[in-house]
Amino acid sequence: MISLFDALLRPLLQTLDAEDAHALTIRMLKYAPLPRARDDDKRLATRAFALNFPNPIGMAAGFDKNAEVPDALLRLGFGFVEVGTVTPKPQHGNPRPRIFRLRTDAGVINRLGFNSQGADAVLRRLAARADAGGIVGINVGANRDAPDRVADYVALMERFAPVASYVTVNVSSPNTPGLRDLQHAAALDDLLARVIDARERIARRAGPTPVLLKIAPDVSLAELDDMVGVARARRVDGMIVGNTTLARPASLTDTAIAEEAGGLSGRPLYPLATRMLAETYVRVEGVFPLIGTGGIDSGATALGKFGAGASLIQLYSALAFRGLGLVAEIKAALSAALDRHRLDSLSDLVGTDAAAITAEPWPV
Ligand SMILES: Cc1cc2nc3c(=O)[nH]c(=O)nc-3n(C[C@H](O)[C@H](O)[C@H](O)COP(=O)(O)O)c2cc1C
Repeated sequence: MISLFDALLRPLLQTLDAEDAHALTIRMLKYAPLPRARDDDKRLATRAFALNFPNPIGMAAGFDKNAEVPDALLRLGFGFVEVGTVTPKPQHGNPRPRIFRLRTDAGVINRLGFNSQGADAVLRRLAARADAGGIVGINVGANRDAPDRVADYVALMERFAPVASYVTVNVSSPNTPGLRDLQHAAALDDLLARVIDARERIARRAGPTPVLLKIAPDVSLAELDDMVGVARARRVDGMIVGNTTLARPASLTDTAIAEEAGGLSGRPLYPLATRMLAETYVRVEGVFPLIGTGGIDSGATALGKFGAGASLIQLYSALAFRGLGLVAEIKAALSAALDRHRLDSLSDLVGTDAAAITAEPWPV
């Protein structure tokens, strides 16, 4: 049923401007009667951040920025959905066009710049579905013109903790000038201290909301040392590795589009994102779990993330090229890997390749 949906829809979506195609997909998910995905293989169930995920495959932030369709995505088989990035006040983001497909590379470049309907609208939707079950996290960011960006994160933490399964602190979007400066050790330490403090302040009302940190793949290993050190010292519950890259890998063939400004995602991001995941895993030393994101477009690339150190994975760009059937394909590949290794749980696969990956030549 889901593959029929894909077969009918994808040729049409491919003819549209990328942002129009995305808007149409959201409308379809909102209004079309959707098939329910098959029950999950019980062995794919994953516990992380004190949450029970029915399967480890998440929709990455940026697809459902305004929390319009989290339940549709859960119904279609995602184990969790990260909505956002949401900013406190509504903002339009950058001028269009601002999403570009690299067709021959199966990549995407975007410079949306946190277009968001703002916290009020998103909060209303999440509050309305709060009793529906399923894991729905929220990814938070600062308004472009915020006088005090840290205050934006604190305010969003306070507002969303009661209705979100977890909160992701996004300091890694490349499209809000200066945002990535919050990744530097002193600024990150201050930010996380204040966000975690806000979490503790409202814990009695909101419960123990996990706080995750989403980082860019474009940091040096010395910077990564610092960031992991701060994340561990401030006791975040996990990290997401990672966001889109400003790099343009040598493998790109769609060279004209590659010159567009913005963050690159999809297949060409996989080697760098997976290397950074492994580098993060060896530094975290099992203190908290990681979500591996970037370039997953098949069962094999999904499995590669677990080997590099992910306990959970998220994807976005490949859905534009492969359709929603990809989720079931990845689940089947994960189950087959468990059969092959005679394992009952994916946790035994996590990080088994991390040390070897960190010894490889740096991906270019
Ligand atoms: C069009 C688009 C919009 C995105 N918006 C966000 C966002 O608002 N917040 C965020 O943390 N990441 C955002 N991302 C990054 C994704 O969450 C993900 O980290 C990245 O695309 C790598 O995964 P992928 O290769 O599977 O797409 C966006 C990505 C794309 C392609």
